[in-house]
Amino acid sequence: MITVLSPMAGVNDKTFRNLCLSMGADMVFTEMISVNGLVNGNKKSFEMLPDSEENAVIQLFGNNPEYFARASDVIRNCRPKWVDLNAGCPVPKVVKNGYGAALMRSPTLVRKLVETLASKGLPVSVKMRIGWEKEQNFMEVAHAALDGGAFLVSIHGRTVEQGYAGKANWEPARMLKEKMPIKVGVSGDIFSASDALNAMTFTNADMVFVARGAIGNPWIFRQIKEMTFGGKPTVITFKERRDILKQHLLNSIEEHGIHGIITFRKFLAAYLKGLPSSHAVKVKMLQMSDFNSLTEVVNAYFDKLISCERGGVERGNT
Ligand SMILES: Cc1cc2nc3c(=O)[nH]c(=O)nc-3n(C[C@H](O)[C@H](O)[C@H](O)COP(=O)(O)O)c2cc1C
Repeated sequence: MITVLSPMAGVNDKTFRNLCLSMGADMVFTEMISVNGLVNGNKKSFEMLPDSEENAVIQLFGNNPEYFARASDVIRNCRPKWVDLNAGCPVPKVVKNGYGAALMRSPTLVRKLVETLASKGLPVSVKMRIGWEKEQNFMEVAHAALDGGAFLVSIHGRTVEQGYAGKANWEPARMLKEKMPIKVGVSGDIFSASDALNAMTFTNADMVFVARGAIGNPWIFRQIKEMTFGGKPTVITFKERRDILKQHLLNSIEEHGIHGIITFRKFLAAYLKGLPSSHAVKVKMLQMSDFNSLTEVVNAYFDKLISCERGGVERGNT
């Protein structure tokens, strides 16, 4: 099974991508990157680009074919595995400008943008949602992607209006796989290795996309591999969790400077989620911006858990 770290704006920095790769993710998406930003030399957009040695997929958003053509000249140096067109982002600021999910209203434009990228010699995919409530046209958009030369469509099984509400619907991914001569990625509510296996069994998709389920839980990729090969997913120990957390924090600071402590907070909260007596210590940690003090609190908290674990109080995996 091919496992993919799904694109997440504000989450998939280089540190997190590399962590997920080290845990067994086959492919890692960047955050969505603005083609306008790349064309206009925006520093932030350039910082989001991957290194050539990563197994990275670059996701672009925008709607101007000329900009996509120029952006593909820029990203070629990063040697991405492929390039993905964002046709699913529901954020109002993005949609209002005619980007992201707004593209699902214009399959002709989707085709044109895919054609533009493909004409530059890049393998292309399109990531979309089921559609808008009143027009759930994922099949039509997938046809447009295929006609434009895409080799893969991935689908987050929710409508644009749904945001993240309700349960993800994997049926459209199953239909795409059954009816279309194109590779399919399934996305939505993959929070455990068994979710990944269930999604693959149900849809017969070619790739499974993990998003929120990897935050604070990057070993999900290793667990998916273990289950795929018939084993039981290894339970992560408190010691491993602490070591991964601390290395993640260090790498985050290396990437972002001292601001890395702030960007790490969303991961920190997720690493602690569901752990015994974690609420008060989490509140404390989330207010800290000094590396040494934070590491001390992390060590003290986990030392207690580790000694309990050694004493035989094994905690189930989350
Ligand atoms: C914080 C966050 C940022 C996201 N950013 C993007 C993005 O930049 N591009 C995109 O195509 N999808 C984005 N997504 C959607 C995810 O890739 C994924 O399709 C969605 O979260 C459903 O998967 P999940 O239920 O496993 O989280 C984002 C999701 C989250 C939670």
